[in-house]
Parts: sequence; C-alpha cells; structure tokens
Amino acid sequence: MCGIFAYLNYNVNRERRYILEVLFNGLRRLEYRGYDSAGISIDSSLPASLSRDPNSPLSLRVPPLVFRQEGRIESLVKSVYENVAATDLDLEESFCAHAGIAHTRWATHGEPAPRNSHPQTSDPGNEFLVVHNGVITNYQVLKETLVRHGFTFESETDTEVIPKLAKFVFDKANEEGDHGVTFSQVVLEVMRHLEGAYALIFKSQHYPNELIACKRGSPLLLGVKEVSEGIAASSFLDFNVLKNGKPKELFLSSDANALVDHTKKVLMIEDGEVVHLKDGVVSIFKFDNDKGKNCGALSRTASVQRALSILEMEVEQINKGSYEHYMQKEIHEQPESLKTTMRGRLIRGGSCKAKSVLLGGLKDHLKTIRRSRRIVFIGCGTSYNAALAARPILEELSGIPVTMEIASDLVDRQGPIYREDTAVFVSQSGETADTLQALQYASENGALCVGITNTVGSAIARNTHCGVHINAGAEIGVASTKAYTSQIVVMAMVSLAIAGDTISNQERRDAVIDGLYDLPNKVRDVLELDQEMKELAKLLIAEQSLLVFGRGYNYATALEGALKVKEVALMHSEGMLAGEMKHGPLALVDENLPIVVIATRDACFSKQQSVIQQLHARKGRLIVICSKGDAASVSPGGLCRIIEVPEVVDCLQPVINIVPLQLLAYHLTVLRGYNVDQPRNLAKMELLNERFISRLRLLGQVILVILLLALKVEAYVERYLMLFLMICDFCPLWVAWPDVFDELGTLSNEIELGNSCLDS
Ligand code: F6R
Repeated sequence: MCGIFAYLNYNVNRERRYILEVLFNGLRRLEYRGYDSAGISIDSSLPASLSRDPNSPLSLRVPPLVFRQEGRIESLVKSVYENVAATDLDLEESFCAHAGIAHTRWATHGEPAPRNSHPQTSDPGNEFLVVHNGVITNYQVLKETLVRHGFTFESETDTEVIPKLAKFVFDKANEEGDHGVTFSQVVLEVMRHLEGAYALIFKSQHYPNELIACKRGSPLLLGVKEVSEGIAASSFLDFNVLKNGKPKELFLSSDANALVDHTKKVLMIEDGEVVHLKDGVVSIFKFDNDKGKNCGALSRTASVQRALSILEMEVEQINKGSYEHYMQKEIHEQPESLKTTMRGRLIRGGSCKAKSVLLGGLKDHLKTIRRSRRIVFIGCGTSYNAALAARPILEELSGIPVTMEIASDLVDRQGPIYREDTAVFVSQSGETADTLQALQYASENGALCVGITNTVGSAIARNTHCGVHINAGAEIGVASTKAYTSQIVVMAMVSLAIAGDTISNQERRDAVIDGLYDLPNKVRDVLELDQEMKELAKLLIAEQSLLVFGRGYNYATALEGALKVKEVALMHSEGMLAGEMKHGPLALVDENLPIVVIATRDACFSKQQSVIQQLHARKGRLIVICSKGDAASVSPGGLCRIIEVPEVVDCLQPVINIVPLQLLAYHLTVLRGYNVDQPRNLAKMELLNERFISRLRLLGQVILVILLLALKVEAYVERYLMLFLMICDFCPLWVAWPDVFDELGTLSNEIELGNSCLDS
C-alpha cells in the first residue's frame, strides 16, 4: 500500500538536514504498510546571486531536487546523503519556509524502479511534482492526449499524467494571459480530468513554499503544529489556527501514524476537498466537477470552513516499545487487547442478576437477526478464519444456520443472498476491497448487514446497518494477530447477545461469559510458551512444509496457524480439517514432514486421539497441541513433541490455541531472516477513514446553528458555533455504531452491580 507524507514549515527556521530527517521519519512511519520503493523532493540551493523571491521569473528559480530509490527507505536515505556529499549540498542551509514531499510506493503500474517511484514529474525541470496513492483509471486516455501535446513520458505509472496535466493547465492559462492563476485553480482543473481513486500532494516551483493536497477515495490527513518561540503551543483547539498565518509546521500524510510524532491536531481531508497550504494559512476548496466545465477560464472557488480534530492515538501505540518487531509486540499485547475488546460489554452482576452481554451497536437489531433465515459470515484471510472459529458457538446458541463465505468467492459466484439473511462482514481494516464488494452485493440483495471491524469510521463501519467494533487497538504488523483473537471474542459475544436470555441455554451462556472474563489471564499463561516455541522454530527452520490438523472449533486454528507460518515465515504450510485426513492428505505423511495436530479438550478430543494414532502408525513427525496434563493421552509411546496449553471453555479454546502458532510463525520468520512486519508481497489495508465522522460532526453543527437561530441569539451564533465546533472535535467517537458507548454505558452498570470486570 503506497504512503504519502509532506512537511511544510512556515515562518520557522529549519535546516535542510532537519527537513530531510522529518521526511525520512515520516516515511519510516508508513513503512509497515508495505512498499517497494520510495522518494522525496526538497528545494535546492539558490546561487548566491539570487534571492528566494517567489516573484522572481521562473528562469531564475532552481528546480527542486528529486530523489527516488528502489527498495527500502534506508537505501533512499543512503543515496540522498551520498548525493548531498557528491554535490556539496549544504545541509545546514536554513529555510524560513519550505515545502517537502515524500512517498513510499507499492508497485501497481510498472515495476519497482526509480523512474516509476514518486514524486512523478511534469518535465525535466520539475515544474510540477506529485506524490499519489490510489489508481488513475483513465490515465491511458490522458497520456495519449498529453503525448499529442508534446509531452514525453519516462515511467509506466498512471501517476505521471498528473504532474504533466498540471503543467499543461498552468501553461495554457499563462498562454491565455491568466498570469495570476493560483495553485489551487490548477489542481481543481486537473481533478476535473482524473478518474479513479486518489490522494495527491502537489509541489511546484511556480508556487514556492506552497503545497496542495486533494483526495477522492484514498485517506489523507493534515496535521497542524503551531510554533511559538519560548511559549508552549496551546493544546486547545483554536478555530483560527488554519487561518492565522502564524509560524507553524504543517504535515500531510495518508496515515495518522506519521502525524502523532508531531501533533494530534488534525484535519481529516474529505473526498473532493482541495487543501492549499500557503503563507501559514490553510485554505480548503470543494471540488465541483461541473464548475469551470466548458467555460474556458479556470474557476475561482470560495474556500470552506473546517475545524480540526484531536487524534485519539498515542505515540506509544505505534512504537515497538521494548519489542523488536510489531508482530511480536502485538502477540504479547493480547491479554490487554482482549480486555479492551470486552471492556464495558460483559455484565456479571450480583447473585440475583443474570450474566449477559451488552453490545450497543447491535441491540436494536437483535430481533431482526433472530428472525433471520440464516446468518452468513463474510470475510477474507484471517478475518474469515476468525468467523470460522466463532461459527459453532453462534450456531449452537442461536439455532440459526450459519454459512461461511470468502468475500471474493461470493462476489465471483454471485451466490444467493436474500432479504431474510443476516450478512456479517468481518474485517480488521474495514476497508478490504473484496469484503466491500461483497457488502455492496449483500446490501443490494436486501440482507441485514452487520459489520465487525477494528477501524472506527471505516467503509465497513459506515456502510453496514449495525455492528460491533473490535477495539483491539492499532495493529501495525501486516500479519494479523491480536485482531484475530479479538474478532473471535467479539463474535462469541455476538452469539451470546443473539441467544438472549433463553432458559434452556443459560448454563452454557454463563460458562462462556465466565470463560471470557478469565480469558486474558489464560492468554497471559499461554504466552509463557514463547521460549518453547522458539526452540521448536529452531528445529523446523530448514523445513519446506508444515501441515496443521484441527477440527471442530479448531479447524479455524489449523487454517490460521498455517496462514501465519505461510505469510511471514515464507514456508509452505497447510491447515487441514482432520476429518478429511484419510480422504487424501494421509498420502503425504512420512517420517520427515512435520505435522501439528490440535487436540485440546472438547467434544472432538477422542476423534483427534484417533487421528494421532493413525498418523503415528505411518511414522508421522508429530507436534501435538493439547490441554495441560493431557500429554500422556495424546502421545503414543511418548514419541510426539507436546505443547501444553491452558484449558478454557471449548468455544474460546481457539483464542488460546492460536497463540503458540503465532509465536512459532514469528520465531521461524526471525530465524529464517525474513522481514516479520512486512512480509514479501503483502501490504496492510487502510487503517483510518474518517469521512463518516466528519459527516456526523457536520450534522451536529447544522443542528446547533438551527437551534441557536431558533432561540434568536444571532449575535452569539458565531461565538457559540466556534465553541460547539471545538466540543465536536474533542469527541470524534460520537459517530460510530452506538457500541462505542458500550464502555460509558456499562461503566455505570458495573459500578452499580459491584462488577470487578476485567481489571482483576
Ligand atoms: C493475514 C491477514 C489477512 C487479512 C485479510 C483481510 O495475517 O491479515 O489475511 O485478514 O487481508 O483483511 P481485513 O481483516 O482487514 O479485511
């Protein structure tokens, strides 16, 4: 997934070295999303005879420097400093104002190579430079037109048409005598010609120390940091901060991760907005496709008012802390992430109160779900596996048939989905394209659509009728670990909520709720297997293949364990249904192939014992995951390697059982020398989409204005409006499914009921 970052300092002196480091660090924060090349652009030094006068003719200005490199960010850094040394570029040169842009590229059009990396340029003089996330679908047509107008292309990218189009628009305006054409006018005109999804940042030597950002479909944020010498900048949201022209540092990024190091004051740029950074002022224009169409001259659009939000994110969340890798950190964080997932949602009152589950985002739809003809779980990869793990408990407690769909397969087949169905979309990111297509399809077919996602405001959160947030915290490692266990827990809670308060299964529900309370502690216990899994990884380091057999609740564990080993350790591994063993896979068994068998205590235990016997009879090289104390029952002749895990209620056992396999995948990867957090060819989906949040905030603002007008307090409208905008911005979570209220709502419940909840 590509990443974009930009840094503009206004009226604050910053040396070139500092600017470079801010850009490089911004790129490092985007690194986890996956990329194969990177690039930056900064200003060059002017000859001593010239001043940095923006009014000086172009011929007197010096083209910005562009550095692009295939491979890791560190190779870009190295090549930049080598170039600096070779050209005697002054790293101590100070800029009172400067605009720098940067990009990590994930190749889509054209192989990873410097010429295809961003910034892409308009011409050899770098008059317009662009960094781009997304895909321009009509780039071929635009390219042909631009070639006819004399432009030559050096890359195979779809992006290159954008800076060239900007130059074309700029030159044409000047030829027609419009010498005052502004940067935003140029970009608004460029946007009129672009089709597809994009987030863009423009830099131009015609507009020194200015930047333009715009977006349609791909996420983009502006971060604002006021800099007042000697005085700590206020953390209060000043409505004027975007307009006051005071000294400040401005940051643009496709990912909040790259901003939290600098500021928490952000503007979530909305689709169709053009954000112009100039002279310390942020102007926001709304793109209107019809404006300027066929009227020759470039349109002049009035800027709109927007307020800043406060990022609900701490730097520590996105730092590795004492861990070496994000995947390692996220595996070990699971006791905490599970607590957060359950916090405020489990109710275990005094003796007279029943144990129950409160899911605010679902409670108004439970009746409809209970009346469904079937429940269809839809997801991809790890999210699909999590749903598979939860399927048996949902079937058991709801009595409703539950079917499983891999999102892409459902869309390919156009499988039947009916009005009487409840379709549950499971996705960590909430932005996975296949899952989104399936959501659109199910919604068109009239199903009730329920979302289960880790990302507040994501496309799935916005476009489903109701849902539950996973609340597992930011997951930076590409391989999903803590989101997986939290997804299972959320779906177990959904099953309990659907089951309601039927007497017949009360005992079972109580056992599951008790199991949920105790789960974080049990996960803490199973994490103690870390060293043991490292030893096992050392034994398996040179293997070509690994099989994982599971059944019942742990069929999902077999699939997920194998997926983890495959995706990070780059070792072939297959998760298999143990019941299918004798229908083919048994042929693979010999004394060399390592096989993991999951045989913890549940209704399938004796069947798994029999599977072990059969594999053992064929000299299978077995590693058995069993419940504590069961070693002798699962290891014929004591010949299997045993991994003992704590026993929990059967439907939650997959949460425990996956942990040793996550650890195995992690250690195998490190020992084999591969990149744990950015596996080959894989990238993370978008983490943040705040459009929904902004829309509801706007609604709140409109309601307030109407109220104030109705109360005939016009004179105070402006003052109160500002106050209200600030309040809205402090509360960005207001707008997700009501389940974000669970914590608040149940907190009072817990106090009332004397609930010790999860903090024990
Ligand atoms: C594997 C992994 C993927 C994702 C899949 C769906 O570790 O993370 O298999 O689960 O790409 O992504 P989400 O859950 O964001 O829809």
